Amino acid sequence: MAGQMAGQPIFILREGSQRTKGREAQSNNIMAAKAVAEAVRTTLGPKGMDKMLVDSLGDVVITNDGATILKEMDIEHPAAKMIVEVSKTQDDEVGDGTTTAAVIAGELLKKAEELIEQDVHPTIIASGYRLASERAADILQTLARKVTINDEGILLNIAGTAMTGKGAEASKDVLSRIAVSAIKSIVDTTDGKNKVEMDNINVEKKVGARIEDSELITGMIIDKERVHSNMPKKVPNAKIALINIAIELKETEVDAEISITSPEQLQSFLDQEEKMIRSIVDKIVASGATVVFCQKGIDDMAQHFLSKSGIFAVRRVKKSDMQKLARATGGRLITNLDEITAGDLGKAQLVEEKKVGGDEMTFVTGCENPKAVSILLRGGTEHVIDNIERALHDALRVVGVAIEDETLVAGGGSPEVELALRLYEYAATLSGREQLAVKAFSEALEIIPRTLAENAGLDPIDKLMELRAHHEKGSKTAGLNVFTGEIIDMWKAGVVEPLRVKTQAINAAAESAVMILRIDDIIASTRAPAGPSAEGMVPNMPPGMGGMGME
Ligand SMILES: Nc1ncnc2c1ncn2[C@@H]1O[C@H](COP(=O)(O)OP(=O)(O)OP(=O)(O)O)[C@@H](O)[C@H]1O
Ligand SMILES: [Mg+2]
Repeated sequence: MAGQMAGQPIFILREGSQRTKGREAQSNNIMAAKAVAEAVRTTLGPKGMDKMLVDSLGDVVITNDGATILKEMDIEHPAAKMIVEVSKTQDDEVGDGTTTAAVIAGELLKKAEELIEQDVHPTIIASGYRLASERAADILQTLARKVTINDEGILLNIAGTAMTGKGAEASKDVLSRIAVSAIKSIVDTTDGKNKVEMDNINVEKKVGARIEDSELITGMIIDKERVHSNMPKKVPNAKIALINIAIELKETEVDAEISITSPEQLQSFLDQEEKMIRSIVDKIVASGATVVFCQKGIDDMAQHFLSKSGIFAVRRVKKSDMQKLARATGGRLITNLDEITAGDLGKAQLVEEKKVGGDEMTFVTGCENPKAVSILLRGGTEHVIDNIERALHDALRVVGVAIEDETLVAGGGSPEVELALRLYEYAATLSGREQLAVKAFSEALEIIPRTLAENAGLDPIDKLMELRAHHEKGSKTAGLNVFTGEIIDMWKAGVVEPLRVKTQAINAAAESAVMILRIDDIIASTRAPAGPSAEGMVPNMPPGMGGMGME
């Protein structure tokens, strides 16, 4: 009986599941992850190129930002997705260095592959990488310098470095200044610790004018006009009601039919309706409100009464803007008009409608909470503004991180070269095969200066040699001037980045590389059949995939 069973495969996975194991699984994963890293490599640095991404609806995004590119790329391979994760995490944590993180992760895997070919076991590589990554964080600490909120010049340099190569070159100075002032005005210092809450910054985009015409406004900008032209255009000392229900008559919950048989009845029905709307508006007026921001609609009759009462009203305000308005003006969101009181109202010195680029916008300035600021971004076309917005986002984030952490490192490839050198020395102190992994890690970091040189049309090998020579002589901040090809002191050149950008990039890259390396078995279930043709068909198995049975 047992003999009879012997030749039969036992199925434990659902039909169509695919399985790849061992070396093959590893090399598939590494290949996919490397491909993703390679895709963003050409965008690194001031001389990096941009990518144009077109989605299935034909919408175009032009960007140089690693996280944005990877997010828009619609990647399917699971290991490749992990690299996308690395850059997404980097974006969430520090906002910049997303390309760096992905590129380092790819290079770590490439070096690991070489080691695997030399029969070094992936778990040894993983533990060596972990050691190296910890040591790298320590070394970076020793390279860091202090910056405080008062070092205006350095903060401007940080913003500038983050924006280089992102299409904002011509107006970098203006945008850096905006970014630094915006962050400075929202910093919250408690017990000597700075905290930056990015939600306090509201970015509004308006096509038209030049990028340099962008400005920082203390307060909020709402991209909406007042609902009625008879309302005042300017309201000083505004008392603001933030209403998140529609200002109109409530619909009855049951379907009711009203039959009207005479013109008098119709008139009295309309009169009644008018009275009810008027009583809603009266409640708003009684609370003392002079400005209304409504998240939903305001019907014609209500608009009329509001304007007669001299109230400035705006309708269909975005939910996120309502929340920001609440924070800025100290008002409460009102969900029941019957209960509106003076205590619910927010305050601002001025609410004003102004024309920007052909459209009316509402400016709320002199708010209760001075920590609410807005940036009005201008630019020739929508794509230009979107690209500038991403550059500005990076700048805001790094300045915020720098003020929070108060530590900085030089950029331009200098920390990577220094780290590579020091890790190489560290490797020599280790015994066993982990030494090889730490060496591989140190070489992998050199991908950053190499890529900076390559993207600038310089010879990567020559430049790396020169950089190493400088660092061996003790110039820890020697980096590559990508515009002239010279090796210069990056600190003096003002190319500086928050320490956290580097530690986070290296740490995230190392962690994900380790995770990918430790996988030696991929079991993928079938996807739902796409379209009618797939029904009842045997799926085509790609070569090398193990099939559905387990032997
Ligand atoms: N003026 C400069 N000269 C030399 N290197 C520079 C200069 N400005 C920035 N860099 C370097 O360029 C690299 C950053 O490039 P880039 O901004 O394209 O990528 P990223 O910050 O890794 O990712 P992303 O900005 O897309 O999130 C850093 O290593 C930085 O030190
Ligand atoms: Mg950057």
